[in-house]
Amino acid sequence: MKRYVLTLMVVFVGIGLYAQVQETANAIETQSKTMAFDNINKTNELIIELGDVETSGGLPLMEALRERKSNRNISPSEIDFQLLAKLLWAACGVNRPAENKKTVPSARNVQEIEIYAFMENGIWHYNPIAKQLHLTKAGDHRKSVSRLEFVGAAPVVLVLVANYDKMKDFSAEDKVFYSSIDCGYVGQNIYLFAASENLATVTIGQVNREAVAKLIGLKNGKVMIAHPIGYAK
Ligand SMILES: Cc1cc2nc3c(=O)[nH]c(=O)nc-3n(C[C@H](O)[C@H](O)[C@H](O)COP(=O)(O)O)c2cc1C
Repeated sequence: MKRYVLTLMVVFVGIGLYAQVQETANAIETQSKTMAFDNINKTNELIIELGDVETSGGLPLMEALRERKSNRNISPSEIDFQLLAKLLWAACGVNRPAENKKTVPSARNVQEIEIYAFMENGIWHYNPIAKQLHLTKAGDHRKSVSRLEFVGAAPVVLVLVANYDKMKDFSAEDKVFYSSIDCGYVGQNIYLFAASENLATVTIGQVNREAVAKLIGLKNGKVMIAHPIGYAK
């Protein structure tokens, strides 16, 4: 009996210790991600690991549809790193890793719509398969995206770009036609995520396409639309 009680105590203490270690490890991981994000200019880091995001929760679909709207009253306050990671995943992240398929469809599954996140600390290219952000250009270039003032004042400006290198087998006309359709799905996912998380966003067609193409080094493709996004004012 004594030995039984002793074994039980050892098991309970073990479980308790394990949970505590796990909790500390999670806290350190979250903290280091946030720090990497905040201190990007100081550390000169070129890649941010987004990792797997929480894909449960949020508003039920019918409620998100009910709440979907364009809102140009975007607060300049920064949004937190985990929310940004979730936003990008919702926009066009991989939801079936075995096939690298995404939350959005694309013509012939060429997945040509790519996202560049313009933020205070730089322009970041989203890689949905590696679940990373790659620094394309350091510095604050948000104001270059559009002549509309509220766009450059948002904490994050997502710019959706059609990468024609991924559309080699499409005719010139089909490149424009299918990438426009594919881009719309990404935009709608951004709208629905915003509705679900109480964020403000709007599709922007008035984009300085040439200036943005130059900033991101786009050689073969088209700058499509932008989505400034942040908390609602
Ligand atoms: C392709 C496209 C381009 C748009 N471009 C702009 C824009 O440049 N500036 C702007 O303020 N709103 C823009 N909008 C937002 C529309 O004005 C908005 O969707 C419309 O007024 C309907 O409002 P709602 O989204 O709240 O339903 C655009 C929307 C789409 C779909």
